[in-house]
Amino acid sequence: MAQTRKKKISLIGGGQIGGNLALLSVQKNLGDVVLFDIPAAEGLVKGKALDINQLSAVDGYDSRVIGSTDWKDVAGSDVVIITAGVPRKPGMSREDLLDINLKIMKDVAVGIKQHAPNAFVINVANPLDAMVYALYKIAELPKNMVVGMAGVLDTSRFKCFVAEALNTSIADVEALVLGGHGDDMVPLVRHATVGGVPLTELLPKDKLEAIIKRTREGGAELVALYKTGSAYFGPAASSIAMAESFLLDRKRVLPAAALLEGQYGINGYFFGAPVQIGAGGVEKVITVQLDDSEKAALEKSFQSVKKTVDSVKL
Ligand code: APR
Repeated sequence: MAQTRKKKISLIGGGQIGGNLALLSVQKNLGDVVLFDIPAAEGLVKGKALDINQLSAVDGYDSRVIGSTDWKDVAGSDVVIITAGVPRKPGMSREDLLDINLKIMKDVAVGIKQHAPNAFVINVANPLDAMVYALYKIAELPKNMVVGMAGVLDTSRFKCFVAEALNTSIADVEALVLGGHGDDMVPLVRHATVGGVPLTELLPKDKLEAIIKRTREGGAELVALYKTGSAYFGPAASSIAMAESFLLDRKRVLPAAALLEGQYGINGYFFGAPVQIGAGGVEKVITVQLDDSEKAALEKSFQSVKKTVDSVKL
């Protein structure tokens, strides 16, 4: 039988999300992990690696984590997940992070270009849609191998609030959030179902509107509670779902910020749409038929993304 090589997952940024990504990667036995950060955070990533390796006996997994500040350790990665950057503080929008996180992304993208040009790269740093665009341009990655994580998390928030409102199992909630990772993202209520029943038949309009609002502001709600940073469990789990679909060639259909080339009337921008993720990376971008009000909401979301992306100086 042919030998299969252990996969390698590099996590650029070993902070709150990075640490959770490392733990989830090894608990799911996805592969060995490099938890990478700047030299000032060397102790942090070496400590997290040691801490996680020490619990492998409890959980019984064979994957290993190393903490590193050397790009050479990232070489040959199958997957790279980027969380390098500053998170929001209360009162900030994701766009307020643009200048500081763009500087960081410029370094990170060069590192990936030099050391892991064949990896499937998932960006999590905010402002999401602009950061993934900068990454794509600077690292010169193939369009199918670079993607932004936002839709899985936004959709998961939407599903969570629906299940809570109905006091029903989340396993039966099917839904989709399209568009940019900002306050005007587009939860598609008309397409959502619970156990095959249209959501619009199960909840009144005012409840649905409250769920849409809470989904859109889901990140800010957590920033206000945490005060020193933003969500980390959800972003980590959502990114791992995407990485796993690539590594195991699961071909899941997940919403993600992918390069659009005419779909939804958008060309040359990364924007949230359902995509199929498999061994080929982003194997398909799926177009959902929208009515006029959904199209208008998506256009509003796109204009916000476009404004931020167009202000990016590479
Ligand atoms: N290379 C590698 N790592 C870096 C770099 C760099 N050039 N610059 C900063 N970092 C590291 C920081 O040292 C820190 O350990 O990125 C890590 C970020 O971790 P946190 O501050 O804990 O932030 P986190 O909550 O993980 O969020 C990271 O994801 O969701 C987004 O808005 C969020 O942009 C933010 C990012």
